[in-house]
Amino acid sequence: MKSFLTIGAALCSVASAWPLLPWIEQAPPAAGTQFYQLQAKSASTVHNNQWVTLPAGSGNYGLAAAQTAATRFFVQKYNATNTWAFLNADDTRQVALRGPNGTLLYMVDVTNPRSDTIPGGQLMEWATFTMDNNVLGVKDGSTLTNRTFVAVQSSLALYDGVSNPEQGVTPLTLNLVRATSTSTSTSRLRRAIQMVTG
Ligand SMILES: *[C@@H]1O[C@H](CO)[C@@H](O)[C@H](O)[C@H]1NC(C)=O
Ligand SMILES: *[C@@H]1O[C@H](CO)[C@@H](O)[C@H](O)[C@H]1NC(C)=O
Ligand SMILES: *[C@@H]1O[C@H](CO)[C@@H](O)[C@H](O)[C@H]1NC(C)=O
Repeated sequence: MKSFLTIGAALCSVASAWPLLPWIEQAPPAAGTQFYQLQAKSASTVHNNQWVTLPAGSGNYGLAAAQTAATRFFVQKYNATNTWAFLNADDTRQVALRGPNGTLLYMVDVTNPRSDTIPGGQLMEWATFTMDNNVLGVKDGSTLTNRTFVAVQSSLALYDGVSNPEQGVTPLTLNLVRATSTSTSTSRLRRAIQMVTG
């Protein structure tokens, strides 16, 4: 547990990435892979039951009313820490938490995150998610006890639960909802198109 505490401290002060990337090359999910969608539960009726989505052209996850807009994630276990990476179903991208400090770490879409490509002045972590009781959590060594996912305007973030955010935040619980398994035809098609178009 020593390394967990060390990293928790680092996350509060200087840029850090955790854990080291366990997968250098990511592959499309195999046929039969379990997919998940994330549904918000909130005391705020505006946000309650909305779905985590990645708006077209955006790198920031947000919420949408329709389940058809919900991103389909698949997961990979990181055995060393008993945490999970959440991969976007089109195969090279995963969910990261990123911000200029630990007050709000925004839920963002990052392609092949690596510790040496974290933008300067930013904290970023990935593959630190937990799935206990079908609720998305974060286990990154932080000792903060009141952290919670929040909606911040049209984005989603992990709020540290202690600092005063400059924007209003609405606490959310993000529930994991199993989505129907499908083949990986979409990502295979995408790869085929990339090969054709160079
Ligand atoms: C994690 O452990 C499981 C069970 O021992 C194993 O099947 C799997 O390949 C491991 N995953 C990684 C990324 O090492
Ligand atoms: C964290 O970053 C935000 C956004 O840049 C900034 O407004 C805020 O003052 C920072 N908080 C701390 C504690 O540095
Ligand atoms: C966590 O939140 C609870 C309820 O709002 C509060 O009583 C407690 O003091 C908070 N703990 C910390 C460490 O901020």
